[in-house]
Amino acid sequence: MAQNERSTIFKGTSASLEGQKGSLILSAGGVSFIPDEGGRGVQIPLERIYAASIEGRILKKLCIVDSSGKRTLFSVPDLDQWKNVLEMAVHIYDALSTKAQPAAQKKPQVATPSAPPAAGTATASNPVTSPVAPPPPVTGSTRGSGIAQTVTKIIQKVPPVYNGQWPSGQDYEQSFQTLKLNLSPSIGKTDGWEAVRNPKNPSWYVHASGNYGSIYKISTGDGKFFALKCFTKKSLSINQRYSSISSYLNSLPNGPECLTHFVYYPEGIKTRKVNGVYFPMLKMEWIDGTTLNQFISAHINEPRLLKTTGNRIVEAAIALQAAGIAHGDLSGDNIIIDGRGKIRFVDYDGMFIPVFRGEKATELGHADFQHPKRNSQTYSEKLDAFSVLVIQLAMQALAVKPELWKKFNADDPDCLILRKPDYLKPSESAVVTELRKTRSRNLKKIIDLLLDYLSKDPLWDGFSLDQIII
Ligand SMILES: Nc1ncnc2c1ncn2[C@@H]1O[C@H](COP(=O)(O)OP(=O)(O)O)[C@@H](O)[C@H]1O
Ligand SMILES: [Mg+2]
Repeated sequence: MAQNERSTIFKGTSASLEGQKGSLILSAGGVSFIPDEGGRGVQIPLERIYAASIEGRILKKLCIVDSSGKRTLFSVPDLDQWKNVLEMAVHIYDALSTKAQPAAQKKPQVATPSAPPAAGTATASNPVTSPVAPPPPVTGSTRGSGIAQTVTKIIQKVPPVYNGQWPSGQDYEQSFQTLKLNLSPSIGKTDGWEAVRNPKNPSWYVHASGNYGSIYKISTGDGKFFALKCFTKKSLSINQRYSSISSYLNSLPNGPECLTHFVYYPEGIKTRKVNGVYFPMLKMEWIDGTTLNQFISAHINEPRLLKTTGNRIVEAAIALQAAGIAHGDLSGDNIIIDGRGKIRFVDYDGMFIPVFRGEKATELGHADFQHPKRNSQTYSEKLDAFSVLVIQLAMQALAVKPELWKKFNADDPDCLILRKPDYLKPSESAVVTELRKTRSRNLKKIIDLLLDYLSKDPLWDGFSLDQIII
């Protein structure tokens, strides 16, 4: 029985090890590399896997470190998925084995790759049913079947790797019509949840949407509401990123007030089009308010309010930076001014937190709010400085000259008054030329800073955000 459970394959792809082509397979028994040409392969039992990471700057490889410190580097096509699923398997195994056994027995120290079973081939397209001989029983393992059995059960509950098309806003809209039938049972109690129709467009449930997701408002039946975000674009690292962000925000005793707490469900909601797959979902506080663009339009003739709101946005960004966080996509859409005038940042898809240092950014933010040289390497808690400068410049300029809104925004929900072409060629920009005519010393200071910044690195630290509060 134990042997059968150990032979259940969770993941298998083509891979290469030291130039040798073959298949990499994860089963409850551990990781096996089976060379296509036959011959000696590698078997690393689950209980001996210490860590999995992605290594290499240009040629990236999956690195598996065993309990003796030995590192084995595999080339695989789906690095992030391998790393995630291995980490998950090891965590589950460790948690269970620590419970089941005294810690001293946790990892055997003997570390020799065992000979592979007879060569078979698993392909990326058919990893589960390919005729690969099961990995051999793990020698030296005394725990064996009990834990392997539970690991098998738990890993089987891990959302399947879905490679098809991601649902559209329309697909989710259908799901919200019969919400309860489409929510994953893994969420827990959802009895009172009722989707609230959009008051501005009552035939729709969706309240707002962006490039990456749709936002729905849910009533809990007792006068309270929360927001659900469903994702319309595929992201390989979404599970790992949102789990890390959630843990980090929860670990901060006085988290920045501009952020909202959220719960991330790797398996959240299904759609009619894709049978049996639950897509991720984010549950968060419903923020009653208006986006920055709507706020400016509504208060364009209230210079004091525009001025203080600009300063508050800068203060919120300072608080984030002090907590080691950058939002990564501050824009007119992702800033909400709530009913009490408080600044709230939403949309954490591109967020930087300290544990992401050294990694690459997965998104580059809206180009009209980003330094033109920003790329995936631009990733630290300083990331927001340029966007904040662009936003503050607009707020303070509009407080002095409200007519700039009609002239340079012209109902464009994607920007305030400056756009990417203005950053690329400021000397030819009509809005920059107009802004430079100002006689306000404060405003001039911000414009000069922005022009200076354009010739610097996107993470330039030649100024601090408190200098632009005016
Ligand atoms: N918690 C929330 N409460 C109320 N409205 C929200 C909330 N989160 C997002 N929104 C609104 O929904 C819009 C789209 O959500 P967002 O997370 O920015 O999606 P995307 O990643 O596609 O840009 C936002 O611009 C904002 O107006
Ligand atoms: Mg957004």
